[in-house]
Order: sequence, then C-alpha cells, then structure tokens
Amino acid sequence: MTDDRIVTATRVDEDAQYEAGLRPRVLDEYIGQDRVRENLEVSIAAARQRGEALDHVLLYGPPGLGKTTLAYVIAHELGTAVRATSGPVLEKPGDLAAILTNLAEREVLFIDEIHRMSPVIEEILYPALEDYELDIMIGQGPSARSVKVPLQQFTLIGATTRAGLLTAPLRSRFGIVHRLEFYTPGDLEEIVRRSARILTVPIEDAAAAEIARRSRGTPRIANRLLRRVRDFAQVRAEGTITNDVAHAALKLLEVDEYGFDEVDRKLLRTIIDKFGGGPVGVNSIAAAISEEKDAIEDIYEPFLIQIGFLDRTPRGRVATPRAYGYFGLEAPGRDSRLW
Ligand code: ADE
Repeated sequence: MTDDRIVTATRVDEDAQYEAGLRPRVLDEYIGQDRVRENLEVSIAAARQRGEALDHVLLYGPPGLGKTTLAYVIAHELGTAVRATSGPVLEKPGDLAAILTNLAEREVLFIDEIHRMSPVIEEILYPALEDYELDIMIGQGPSARSVKVPLQQFTLIGATTRAGLLTAPLRSRFGIVHRLEFYTPGDLEEIVRRSARILTVPIEDAAAAEIARRSRGTPRIANRLLRRVRDFAQVRAEGTITNDVAHAALKLLEVDEYGFDEVDRKLLRTIIDKFGGGPVGVNSIAAAISEEKDAIEDIYEPFLIQIGFLDRTPRGRVATPRAYGYFGLEAPGRDSRLW
C-alpha cells in the first residue's frame, strides 16, 4: 500500500466535503468545548515553548462533535502538518511502519476510529509512542532478529467514538485525553451563525436558534440542516433564512423539535410497544429495528440518554416517562428506582 492511498483514506463522504469549508482552523475560531479548548491551549503553548512534540492526544465522544476538526486545529496551532489515516485502513504492519518512518519532527499523525486497529498494528505503535522507535523483525525462524529504527518525535492524535473499546495498554500511552460533549444550544447557535456568514446567507437570530435546537447537540448536523434550509430559502423564499422560512424548511425535512429522525422514533417506539418500555438489551433492539448494534450505541443512544429519553440500566435500556410523553402516551407505573 502506498502512502498516497493511506493519506487519502480519510473520510471523504459528503459530510466531510461540505464541512471542510466551515471547519475552524485555529483554536480561537473553535466554538464550544470550553474545557477541552482551554486545556489544549495550555498543553500546546507549553510544548511550543519547550520546542518539543505535543504529548499524544486521545479525543473521544459521539460522531460529529469535531474530533477530526480539533485534530487539524491542534496541528495548525503547533505549526505542523497532519498525516491522516484510520484504524480499519491500517491492515499490514508495513502500512503503519511506512507512515511512521516518514513523519517529520513534531508532525501530527491522526488516526481516526483508532479502536478499530488490529492487535498487530497496536503492537507496533507501542514503542513508537513511548520511545519514538520502531521494533522491526527481520528474517524468520532462528535467524530472525529485531532491529530498532529511530523515529522523529511526533504526536499521535487518536479519535474514537468508543474509548471503552481501546485496550488498556493503548489508552495508557496517551498523555492528553479529552472527551467531547454534546454542544449547548447557545454554542450551536453561534456555529450556525458563523457558518451562515461563511456561506454568505442572511439568517435571522431566531432562525439560527431554531436550527441549533434541532441539531442534537452536534455541529455536523447543524451545518447539514443549515445547508438544507438555505436551499429552501433560495428556492421557496427570497434567499434570507427568516424564522418562518426555517420552520417551514425543517417541517418539510421532517426534523422535529428534538431533531429526531425516523430511527430515533422507531427505536423509542419499539422499546415502548414491543418491550413494554424495557429493560431490553441492545441486541434485541437492533434486531427489532434492523439497525446495526454499533450504530445504536454510537449514534442514537448517546443523545437520547443525554436528553433523558432513554436510560441505560444494568438490565438493559429503558424508555423514560419523557419518551412516553413525546408520543402522547402515559408511562406505566413502575419501580421508581429505575428512573
Ligand atoms: N464547525 C463545526 N464545528 C465547529 C466548532 N466547534 N466551532 C466552530 N465551527 C464549527
């Protein structure tokens, strides 16, 4: 596998492409995640002052919250380039060895979905992270010997939706670990207004607030909705995103006041109707609604839990009274300890 393929193996789906222009490039432009930003500011300034590579960074949290964006922002603040790849793409030890030996001093290696790296690849990474060297086996059988290849000091930035799936030895090699949280409606509103400015589309404050409210705490969704509402404003109105235009567009898009889509509603409705409100295991839910278990755990559940529609108990998932209320249903009386 050539470097080229590895470097271009970053996610280039539609979201990534249209988001590229909206992504902040420096920490000062990065809205929200205040605690993470402040901590990074300190770590980056310190590394720069010492003229050293930044400690390895692990960023985790639900998709769409800006882990990749932040990785590029960090590199920019460090004044270095980024080499980007992802866990599933690294198939052979040679793939990773080629990338590592090509890193320049203090460069950033970004590995997305780092929890999906294979164990052999992980083994190579350990000495690289700890001592900036590669342990390569040359030859086979009795004549095999290990050769140490020194590497430049570099920074690994790993991103994952599931920190729990990382092995303990890998996790322990990150000196800087940050969890990204869902964004507040206020921060999302600011992101929507900033993106509208970049896209040069006029937007009323109330409309920005409405889009923000329905974006599940997620900038990627906020930017996607903004684009769709902009289309609507252009074709069905005068081009300005007024509050009325935003409401009409979001109605047509079937994005409700919580930003739920079909899958959210089906998931909740299935727990309520088929499983008596729970508790029910995630495998049973996945089978009942024909969705991947991972997608439920990574994408749908975190937000439903955050807004109090779903509870994760030791015996399984439970729909809360709020979820019943959403469908205009009365929650059955149950053991209050479950809530
Ligand atoms: N676009 C996507 N995420 C953003 C963020 N956190 N700040 C500013 N713009 C963004």
